[in-house]
Amino acid sequence: MRRTYRWGILAPGNIAHKFASGLQFVPGAELYAIGSRDGIKARTFAEQYQAPVSYDSYEALAKDPEVDIIYIATPHTFHTENALLCLEHGKAVLCEKPLAINSRQVESMISAARKNNSFLMEALWSRFLPNIIKVKELATSGKIGAINHLEADFGFKADYNPKSRLFDPALGGGALLDIGIYPLFFALYLFGKPIEVESEAKLGPTGVDESCKVKLKFSSGAIANLRFTVTEFTPVEARIKGSKGEIMLPNRWYQPANIVTSTTDESEESIIDFVGNGYNYQAVEVQNCLDEGRIESPKWSHTDSLQLMQLMDKIRNQCGIEYPADLIK
Ligand SMILES: NC(=O)c1ccc[n+]([C@@H]2O[C@H](COP(=O)([O-])OP(=O)(O)OC[C@H]3O[C@@H](n4cnc5c(N)ncnc54)[C@H](OP(=O)(O)O)[C@@H]3O)[C@@H](O)[C@H]2O)c1
Repeated sequence: MRRTYRWGILAPGNIAHKFASGLQFVPGAELYAIGSRDGIKARTFAEQYQAPVSYDSYEALAKDPEVDIIYIATPHTFHTENALLCLEHGKAVLCEKPLAINSRQVESMISAARKNNSFLMEALWSRFLPNIIKVKELATSGKIGAINHLEADFGFKADYNPKSRLFDPALGGGALLDIGIYPLFFALYLFGKPIEVESEAKLGPTGVDESCKVKLKFSSGAIANLRFTVTEFTPVEARIKGSKGEIMLPNRWYQPANIVTSTTDESEESIIDFVGNGYNYQAVEVQNCLDEGRIESPKWSHTDSLQLMQLMDKIRNQCGIEYPADLIK
């Protein structure tokens, strides 16, 4: 019989609501406790999702011996300190993307997971969606020939507020870390580590990247052209082109969606069966890994997160995107 894992949520903000809804579709998962800096907010969230316990601090949540896994949903710049707190208390950690704001921070989190023999995974939810897994299967099946090009975008118009998570450099603001991470992850997932990176960004008044274009070249000769922005709505589509056809992921390609494969002879839509709201798949992966006694997922490993962050470090370096937290040793 499957064991039950008791989950805690650290920081019940926007995305934590979606995660809590998704967790209801995960067999063997119990949402047990919520930790917020504000005890009333923690209790209200706990009541909404029938979690029996709430705390007015992250530390109290991390110390609760009944909690097995903590999902961290603070803004990017707090991920490292929150994850270290949880790992040091022996908790398994699923931490929102991006895992941190630079690779030095990611390395410290990986070291803490190893030292404490505790599980750590970046909540890169798209990696575990059936459509994304199916795309990789199709792309490597030879159906569209040798794959040589990826085009993907992610853009929306955010309300400008220099103090918000998206625009404040103190909170790791900018398009790259918030949404650029999706097309970048997808390119790495399909082609591996790039051999060349060219990027340009338009920085806004707070100094963070509001729009960014990235071209990646891979050892196979494949190219990825990616763009992301928080200043306008874009198609949010992805196309993988091969020598014999293409695979098209329609609007909001990084979410649950169907896929269209076209060759000169035919066009076929793959209808994918989804369960829950999509955020559940990553939680299933965490539990499967814990069942197997792992401290990292073979599907989105520590090295995968580190390589993704190293790529984002490189882009930040090319584009002159700096955060105050980069200076903290
Ligand atoms: N996977 C996805 O689809 C997805 C979507 C959106 C966001 N995210 C990721 O999730 C993380 C959180 O994003 P969000 O949009 O949910 O953020 P949010 O609602 O603005 O904030 C999340 C929570 O973080 C806590 N927090 C701790 N220190 C804070 C500070 N100094 N300023 C603001 N909040 C602070 C707050 O919780 P308490 O006050 O309760 O402690 C807040 O409610 C980000 O890293 C983001 O990249 C992922």
